[in-house]
Amino acid sequence: MIPNSQLYLKYSHYVQEKHKRLLYFIKQYRLQLFMAMGCMLLVSGSTAASAYLIKPVLDDIFVKKDISMLGMLPIAIIIVYFFRGFGLYGQEYFMNFVGQRIIRHLRDLLYETIIGLSLSFFYTEKTGVLMSRITNDVSVIKNMVSSVVTTSIRDCFTIVFLVFVIFYQIWELALIAFVVLPVAFYPILIFGRKVRRVSTGCQESMAELNSFLYETFAGNKIVKAFGMEEYEKNRFFIKSERLFHLEMKAVIAKSLSSPVMECLAGVGIAFILWFGGSRVIQGTYTVGTYISFLAAVIMLYEPVKKMTKLNNALQEGLAAVDRVFDILDRKSNIQEKENAVEILRKSHTVTFDHVSFKYDQDEVLKDIQLHACTGEVIALVGPSGGGKTSLVNLIPRFYDVTQGAIYIDDIDIRNASIDSVRKQIAIVSQEPILFNDTIRNNIAYGNLNASEEDIEAAARSAYAFDFIKGFPKGFQTFIGELGNRLSGGEKQRICIARALLKNAPILILDEATSALDTESEMLVQKALDNLMQGRTTFVIAHRLSTVAKADLILVIKDGRIVEQGKHDSLLTQHGEYAKLYALQFSNTNIKEKR
Ligand SMILES: Nc1ncnc2c1ncn2[C@@H]1O[C@H](COP(=O)(O)OP(=O)(O)OP(=O)(O)O)[C@@H](O)[C@H]1O
Ligand SMILES: [Mg+2]
Repeated sequence: MIPNSQLYLKYSHYVQEKHKRLLYFIKQYRLQLFMAMGCMLLVSGSTAASAYLIKPVLDDIFVKKDISMLGMLPIAIIIVYFFRGFGLYGQEYFMNFVGQRIIRHLRDLLYETIIGLSLSFFYTEKTGVLMSRITNDVSVIKNMVSSVVTTSIRDCFTIVFLVFVIFYQIWELALIAFVVLPVAFYPILIFGRKVRRVSTGCQESMAELNSFLYETFAGNKIVKAFGMEEYEKNRFFIKSERLFHLEMKAVIAKSLSSPVMECLAGVGIAFILWFGGSRVIQGTYTVGTYISFLAAVIMLYEPVKKMTKLNNALQEGLAAVDRVFDILDRKSNIQEKENAVEILRKSHTVTFDHVSFKYDQDEVLKDIQLHACTGEVIALVGPSGGGKTSLVNLIPRFYDVTQGAIYIDDIDIRNASIDSVRKQIAIVSQEPILFNDTIRNNIAYGNLNASEEDIEAAARSAYAFDFIKGFPKGFQTFIGELGNRLSGGEKQRICIARALLKNAPILILDEATSALDTESEMLVQKALDNLMQGRTTFVIAHRLSTVAKADLILVIKDGRIVEQGKHDSLLTQHGEYAKLYALQFSNTNIKEKR
């Protein structure tokens, strides 16, 4: 079954309580649940039957020495155990089928929800924590569903059937047992509440540990470069220790119900032995009746104990349900309007109309006015942290403007379909991001329908073809296989090839050539120049030589456009741009003199 977020969303709209929403997932698998229940009934029935059969075995075979029974009873026992085995298998199979399906369903929905959330979500949530939601929490929920259903059906029925057997055999003794049992349940309820609290702590601590592992493994180069192995080791040990304490607390809370149960069981059995034994000696009951009763009481112990554990699994699961549904309830803060306009694929103008923007507190862009005609190259320069990347991030709606509006042609991008806006834009981002797949597929990410020729042509234009061909497996080389072998420049060129292949009318190059040496930058620049033809392009570059030819240069400082114009006119203004240019020029001179 394919997860259907639409259906789920409708449902979640009506049902506010997160716990009840889980029923939606359970309901999808009614048939399998029904089968599982059938099998459980079989198990409960045969368990009770095996307790009952002790009476005829003892009384008829051993006391009365009835030969005909000697033939029949073993066959009856074989049949009972056959059904029991069959039922156990079926119950395991169907319950796990339902449990695993629910896991899959939730996992898929979580991924679907998370991947659709806006970029700001990924900057605020830790990757490891999110991973833990999809792996750990979902499994905890599965355990809860399986144990709740299994225990509440199989064990409940086993209890009912066994109780029937004990009442049938010796009703007076059964009555006494019934007074004692409810007393046993009280402490269990109390421990259950504690389990829930502690288990939330455990899962959160586990998520934090995951996130820590992810960071220190992925960023291992920095850990090593700064000689921080000891530091990270100690931080890990502290977290690991905290997890240990929390887990132990959970174990204590979970197992405290055991001593209570065991003591009560001991008292109960001792009493039955004393009371029943004396009646058998007096001849009130046969040995068979008494032993059958005792066996049923002993058999009762397991399912009753499971019922008490049920509460623990339930509390643990409910805590995980809260966390999982908390994420499923998240909405992307980039929303598409109803009846959103489709932007058609053609050349576009891009206009910023009094745009201001803030991530959270401070405005990082203030009153940006800008108009890029079709086919124009707009260069953004300025000091680090000025807001260049933030500005271009607004065009594909990674974030929404706080004030003002951005137009592609005459369409406010908030009125357009997000998909159609992003289809118009190819980006080479500041940090080269490649996925663990073949080089070919990394380039094809730009256009999954591209032919092999197109992919190779894109690689050629990005001046990546030669070094890719140099790898033993060429385009089929996995990025992961290369480890960290790709240089910064090589990564950038693969990213450029990917963007070239997308062949979109708006191009955003955020320091796309910063990691290349001057010579390859000139080559790639040529390729980019070709690519920019007829496309509206935003180029961010620190090297001013790359922006000199731009149709319009914007100098961005502290979130404002402080200067704009063409290269030559900006130089004559003797302002920020001229300053930046002079600085770079003198640096180059110094280098050359050396
Ligand atoms: N995700 C974010 N959340 C909060 N603040 C951010 C975020 N990204 C950037 N900023 C802040 O916004 C400001 C502008 O950053 P931006 O990345 O746009 O600068 P930039 O001009 O691209 O700098 P650089 O040349 O170093 O790439 C900075 O002060 C930065 O700290
Ligand atoms: Mg930047």
